[in-house]
Parts: sequence; structure tokens; C-alpha cells
Amino acid sequence: MEGRKCLGNRGITADMNVVTVEGLDRIYGSGRTRVEALMEVSFCLAPGELSVLVGASGSGKTTLLNMIAGFDHPTGGTVRVLDQEIGVMGETALALFRRQHLGFVFQALNLIPTLSATENVELPLTLLGIPRSARRVRVCELLECAGLRDRAAAMPGELSGGEQQRIAALRAVAARPKLLLMDEPTSCLDSSNTADLVGLLLDLNQGEKICMLLTTHDQRVTRAVPRSIRLVDGRIADGQD
Ligand SMILES: Nc1ncnc2c1ncn2[C@@H]1O[C@H](COP(=O)(O)OP(=O)(O)OP(=O)(O)O)[C@@H](O)[C@H]1O
Ligand SMILES: [Mg+2]
Repeated sequence: MEGRKCLGNRGITADMNVVTVEGLDRIYGSGRTRVEALMEVSFCLAPGELSVLVGASGSGKTTLLNMIAGFDHPTGGTVRVLDQEIGVMGETALALFRRQHLGFVFQALNLIPTLSATENVELPLTLLGIPRSARRVRVCELLECAGLRDRAAAMPGELSGGEQQRIAALRAVAARPKLLLMDEPTSCLDSSNTADLVGLLLDLNQGEKICMLLTTHDQRVTRAVPRSIRLVDGRIADGQD
């Protein structure tokens, strides 16, 4: 990918784990409709750590990301993000916490169709009240990093799938979150776009020390990432973590 460059290290000082999951259960339904989506899941993610979450379809990957982001509540166990217990936070506090510390890109990218690529990336900074000049500097830096400077004014409908995926990633990291969660980021991408996205994520992980957890079925992603956490039927596979 042309035009990428590493971004400056913003020096995370906290030694605490970014994510600590302990004894997490998520059971849906009851009786004949009961599904044990997650059972006794425990693991930690350190600051700046880059990991993939792998496992067969239905093994609980998306459920686990939703628990970490606080979009769903555990049946048992705890999730702590930056030492905050997610399950006990009120909706308002959780929304602010997500805006300040968490980036996420779910399978439906949710780019805003009426905003340009630049405006989509800028949106989290606008919501945080960052001044316009500082927002624009940050967005230019990110578009440059992703090789997308020349697509800055394009609307989402005018971007390729790979470009949309990279814009969604940039929007998720714009506010310099400590944690980025991505669900199947390359599921709709060809080899070239997958390589571009993985390169961008590696650059952001190295340059900005963002802790990242990506779910994937894609060996091209798994091979590029240092740590794999495997779920089998809602449980962490033995010997994987
Ligand atoms: N809201 C829900 N109600 C009931 N069951 C659910 C719900 N959400 C997920 N499940 C079930 O929980 C299990 C885990 O689902 P999940 O979506 O986390 O799997 P996944 O590993 O992300 O799969 P995929 O690779 O296909 O995306 C599945 O058996 C699924 O059918
Ligand atoms: Mg899923």
C-alpha cells in the first residue's frame, strides 16, 4: 500500500491489563432453546497486544466482543476494561467510556452514508469536542497512514469495500482508543485489500500501541498476528491461552 507511514508513539503508561475477562458465561434462552454461547472464559490482553480470536462459526466470538464492549451483559463472570467492570456501568457512563477508550468495527461497518470519508473518520473527535483544526490534523494523518488521502472527499458509496473497511478502522482509532475490537474485518475482502488492511492494523498497533482483538476465519490475518485465542463451543481451547 502506498502512502502509509507509522504514527507517533503516544506512550501508554498504565501497566494494568487493557482487558481482563474472568469466568465469563453467556447463556441465551432456557429449556430447549438454551444456548451456552460462552462458558468459563478467562483471559487478559496487555497494553499494545495484538491478538486474533478464532473458532468455528457459532463458537462465541461475536458474543465475546459484544461482552467486552458492553453491548451485552454476562450471565456470570466479569469483564474489566482498563480496570473498569463493564457489566456494572450505567448506560451513560458506558457510552462515555466507549467514546474515550474503545474503538470497534463490527461486520456491518456502519459508515454514515451522507458523510464523506473525512467526515466519517472525524466524527468521534467531533463528539468528544476536539477543536476543528486538531480534528483535521488527526484525520489527515490517519488518511495518509492508510494510503487514502486521495479518497478524502469520497462518500462511502463511492468507496470500494476495502477502502470502506479501512475508513471504518480509521474512524475507530481516530480518538486514540486503548482498545480496538474488530469483528471479521476481512470477511468481504480480496487478498490485496486484506494485505492492505492487515498492514494498516499492524502500523496502528506498532505506532499507536493500541491493544487490538480481531475475530477472524482468515488464515492470512491469523498468520500476521502474534497471538491467537481459540474458542471451541464457547470455551477457550486448552493450550491456546
Ligand atoms: N441473541 C441471541 N439469542 C440466542 N442465541 C444467540 C444469540 N446470539 C448468539 N447466539 C448463539 O450463540 C452462539 C455463539 O454465537 P456467535 O455469534 O457469538 O458466534 P461466532 O463465533 O461469532 O460465529 P460466526 O463465526 O458465524 O460469526 C451461537 O450458537 C448462536 O446461535
Ligand atoms: Mg460472529
